[in-house]
Amino acid sequence: MKKIRIIVTSVLFLVILIGGVAYFLTTNGSASDQSNKNNIASTKTTLPIPEILEDENPDDDQAEYHLTAQKSSKTFVRGIETETYGYNGDYLGPVIRAKKGEEVTVHIQNDLGEEETTVHWHGLEIPGDVDGGPHQVIAPDESITTKFTISQRAATLWYHPHPLHKTGEQVYKGLAGLLLIEDEVSQSLPIPDDYGVNDFPLIIQDRNLNEDGQLSYNLNMMSMMHGMEGDTPLVNGAYDADLEVPRGKVRLRLLNGSNARVSQFQLEDGAEFWQIASDGGFLEKPVKMDHLVLGPSERAEVIVDFSLYERGKRIELQDQDVRLMNFIVGDEPTESTEIPEQLTRVNHIDPTEVSTVREFVLQGMGPHVNINGKQMDMDRIDEEIDWNETEIWEVSNPRNRMSMEHPFHVHGVQFQVLERNGEDPPENEQGWKDTVLLMPGEDVKLIATFKQKGVFMYHCHILEHEDAGMMGQFQVE
Ligand code: C2O
Ligand code: CU
Ligand code: CU
Repeated sequence: MKKIRIIVTSVLFLVILIGGVAYFLTTNGSASDQSNKNNIASTKTTLPIPEILEDENPDDDQAEYHLTAQKSSKTFVRGIETETYGYNGDYLGPVIRAKKGEEVTVHIQNDLGEEETTVHWHGLEIPGDVDGGPHQVIAPDESITTKFTISQRAATLWYHPHPLHKTGEQVYKGLAGLLLIEDEVSQSLPIPDDYGVNDFPLIIQDRNLNEDGQLSYNLNMMSMMHGMEGDTPLVNGAYDADLEVPRGKVRLRLLNGSNARVSQFQLEDGAEFWQIASDGGFLEKPVKMDHLVLGPSERAEVIVDFSLYERGKRIELQDQDVRLMNFIVGDEPTESTEIPEQLTRVNHIDPTEVSTVREFVLQGMGPHVNINGKQMDMDRIDEEIDWNETEIWEVSNPRNRMSMEHPFHVHGVQFQVLERNGEDPPENEQGWKDTVLLMPGEDVKLIATFKQKGVFMYHCHILEHEDAGMMGQFQVE
């Protein structure tokens, strides 16, 4: 009896496997086949666009939301059910769209079974006790209500779990969502801002589906050192999907949502596009570029002009030469939009106002990654900061045989990059940031004014490094 069951399951498994491989070959084959390039109608996946979470409070200056972190399953590759985590759904989460000045209440329910979780608002300038870091645990089957007021400028932020030592796994299985802030500037600029029409979020992640098609999170030597990387690129949770875009200017809000991969985004033909915003808001002026490097958790808003292409044209979005998804040029836009010469004014923080300079050295490898020789300890405050003071943080990633890239992130504040390797930062880093990528041998000088009180984290945003202890705490009082 047992033998028969084993044979039946192996045959079933083989059938699924062969089906999967055949599917993989056909989809890959058709995309590289030039004659099929203009064929809009195909069996391919349409890019999912995360829905905007309904605001349950009718008041203009208040918003109320419900989020549930839950277990689910989803089909990434045809014929295979993958177990996942999601917020209010099967994978990733809805978009929370809030206005500057709004008071936001979020009820968060933990339905993950045995797991504790938290929800961290990455990039939000809010007090430490609502930041959602490792101290604000939501026990299994419990819920919390968190409340904060949005006081910062328009930006593309995100939310994700942050439980001690478990962030990597929970994000990997699907917990992440976008938080979009709008203000007078974002609403008055003539840029594309019609969500899902000419303004699209693109959450880019890499994942590994194992032989059973599951997102198994088992760290080996390699992933302990470099972080968890995968060979299956997903955009908004879909593999190799198509997005039909108007034949005009289109705004893309890119989030590098990978646990560890540094991505270099480009269009397959090397066409130019304009970066209009970095992590914390608009740049002063659009920056023209033909590729864009984002470390884990960095965001960028860009405008691509698809009017340069014929209707029906298929253009790949790539990470170096790996295809992530395809844009299909559709009809003329109904609305005309622009790439303005000036987007906003960035008030540059004055370095002469600085009271304290601190150093942060990113070092170690594998399980020993650390900052200034220390690993995360919940009971230790590493840096004490006076409220409302302006500081310079000198962050360095010394080069040695073992060094690798580290994206350095600070909670509760948006900073500016004063210098990269002793020089002015590149133009697209001259706005507001909350995460900065340091390649081996690089150093940056950051400047920030700490306007929120409480305990916050700073850490490497390679989630396996964070979980291993490449994180510290600062208190603003
Ligand atoms: Cu995106 Cu400490 O996190
Ligand atoms: Cu954060
Ligand atoms: Cu790191």
